[in-house]
Amino acid sequence: MPDPTLPAPATPTGAAPAGALPIGAVPTGADAGRRTTPPGQRLPVLDVEGLGVRLGGRQVLSDVSFHLCQGEVAGLIGSNGAGKTTLLRAVLGLTPVSAGHVSVAGSRGRRPPVGYVPQKVVLDPDLPIRARDLVQLGQDGHRWGLPWPSAAKRAATEELLAGVGALHLADARVGQLSGGELQRVLVAHALAGGPRLLLLDEPLANLDLRSARDTVALLDCIARQQGIAVLMSTHDVNPLMGVMDRVVYLAGGRAATGPTADVVRSDVLSSLYGHHVDVLHAHGRVIVSIGDDAHRDDGCDAVPASAGVLADEPEPSRSGWR
Ligand SMILES: Nc1ncnc2c1ncn2[C@@H]1O[C@H](COP(=O)(O)OP(=O)(O)OP(=O)(O)O)[C@@H](O)[C@H]1O
Ligand SMILES: [Mg+2]
Repeated sequence: MPDPTLPAPATPTGAAPAGALPIGAVPTGADAGRRTTPPGQRLPVLDVEGLGVRLGGRQVLSDVSFHLCQGEVAGLIGSNGAGKTTLLRAVLGLTPVSAGHVSVAGSRGRRPPVGYVPQKVVLDPDLPIRARDLVQLGQDGHRWGLPWPSAAKRAATEELLAGVGALHLADARVGQLSGGELQRVLVAHALAGGPRLLLLDEPLANLDLRSARDTVALLDCIARQQGIAVLMSTHDVNPLMGVMDRVVYLAGGRAATGPTADVVRSDVLSSLYGHHVDVLHAHGRVIVSIGDDAHRDDGCDAVPASAGVLADEPEPSRSGWR
């Protein structure tokens, strides 16, 4: 069986997901992404307002507010235990909220399909499921009974796999894929329901530099060409600096949110963490140094000042710096 944490996004038919364009196709009309839709005209997709979550008697998130529009990419940044997975699960409706609300595409009740790539996906190497089976589950896995094979479903599955550069893996067993290969197949699975919002929990974990860059470029391309809003969590802001439109930075249960240039700043992050944080620009890169204050009340390990992380500084023309 596939990992039970993998959702089976709902889609009304086995045909190509509504609104989905093969990556590389030219987007048109309302589905065009952020590069073609002026900022003021992008439709809101995710609205999080005053979100609070209590788990095990502890306030994990307090008063988190942010929004995300069609075709935008947002980074959900925070240390271990900061609440990234909790926030994503609250958006999915899997974790109850203690305050505030979450609205996806204007709906607070029954939510439209949301694509989700969870943080932990453990697959048995001998699992007799091919990549194409997993992607097809994303199309009709919510239905009772055995999926009914059809040429249209097969074509839609192959289109999704081709879109993430994984068509050559269609017949490979999912448990035998490498981390980077599996990541692509999971993204295809998450896109199978035709979501307007794609959530990815630590999609860059365990990827080498090149695979991480490829994954970020792929997700940026999906947002841009299909107009899907993408929210992805990571410990390190740096790999996303060139593509993020906005950032949700978590620490101590609170969040600093907004356009990247307004949040990834020394004064804003110092206020969030409650102690001095340096954001330095050097040699075309950004260094975020959280300091060596190891005893913060959020229970997260601080990053030593000497281990300040490096990032490619985005070029103004293709970044979210506005
Ligand atoms: N079901 C639960 N009951 C009690 N506490 C929980 C539960 N789930 C998570 N927590 C706690 O909530 C905090 C936030 O956890 P979460 O998994 O959201 O962090 P994270 O930012 O995703 O961390 P990581 O980077 O390690 O994945 C942690 O302190 C965790 O122990
Ligand atoms: Mg997590």
